[in-house]
Amino acid sequence: MIWTLNSIKQHTPNPKLTVVGAGPGDPELITLKAINAIRSANVILYDALVNPELLDYASSSAEVIFVGKRRGCYSYQQEQINDLIVAKAQRYGHVVRLKGGDSFVFGRGSEELEFAHENNLETDVVPGISSALAVPAGQGIPLTMRHVSESFWVITGTTKMHQLSEDIKIAAQSTATVVILMGMGKLNEIVHVFSQAGKANAPVAIIQNGSTTREKSGYGTIDTIEAIVAEQQLSAPAIIVIGAVVENRVTLKSISQNLKQYALS
Ligand SMILES: C[S@@+](CC[C@H](N)C(=O)[O-])C[C@H]1O[C@@H](n2cnc3c(N)ncnc32)[C@H](O)[C@@H]1O
Repeated sequence: MIWTLNSIKQHTPNPKLTVVGAGPGDPELITLKAINAIRSANVILYDALVNPELLDYASSSAEVIFVGKRRGCYSYQQEQINDLIVAKAQRYGHVVRLKGGDSFVFGRGSEELEFAHENNLETDVVPGISSALAVPAGQGIPLTMRHVSESFWVITGTTKMHQLSEDIKIAAQSTATVVILMGMGKLNEIVHVFSQAGKANAPVAIIQNGSTTREKSGYGTIDTIEAIVAEQQLSAPAIIVIGAVVENRVTLKSISQNLKQYALS
């Protein structure tokens, strides 16, 4: 075979990383842009909170690698994931890094993009629907509401050093809605902080596996929520929502029933 300049160009991969937000779990809660990125990927690296149904969009020739954490399974360290992204992109071209929710909300998407950029990869990001917004919405909980809540905080319950985030103490002093991710292991401390801030009666919702068929939820107040969690056997991954918006949630069931009736009539 005689190699022309054009054929060499066609066979040289253009090393690229696209960090893609896969949404909160419901496979319909993904953007068109994300689907197009998955379709064009040569290699896909995905996390535990990504719905595997989304991999059906991948080309049959794409290499698909699970790099998330699962109990009892080998889990990749962040440095290994960074190296894998660069190695796969240099060898095969377009790597899609598929992450739960939005990759810039407690997702380390920026770190991976930075590393890829330093290694001369082309880089792009596709925003995703964060669980911080979508999971409360799925339960009819608006994060802001006129006359009820003017703002919301999205905070990690557990810091890199496995401590309770100091921001939770500041947020507990405010009138804002407080949305806590990765907080189930620190629920007792969170309850203590809000009680100390005089918020023992603040309404609380905990939603596990939101937007999926395994969704479970529990409602109470700061005073009662630990008992409710034990009773309902709620655990991670879950979102904790604290604030008056929780008791002002809208009933979605009747809305969807109305829509169905409307569609049928
Ligand atoms: C490392 S953070 C990633 C957040 C993600 N980047 C996002 O924007 O949704 C993982 C935490 O997000 C929350 N989370 C993600 N998906 C969830 C879901 N479907 N239901 C409840 N909580 C979820 C949990 O608190 C979980 O421990």
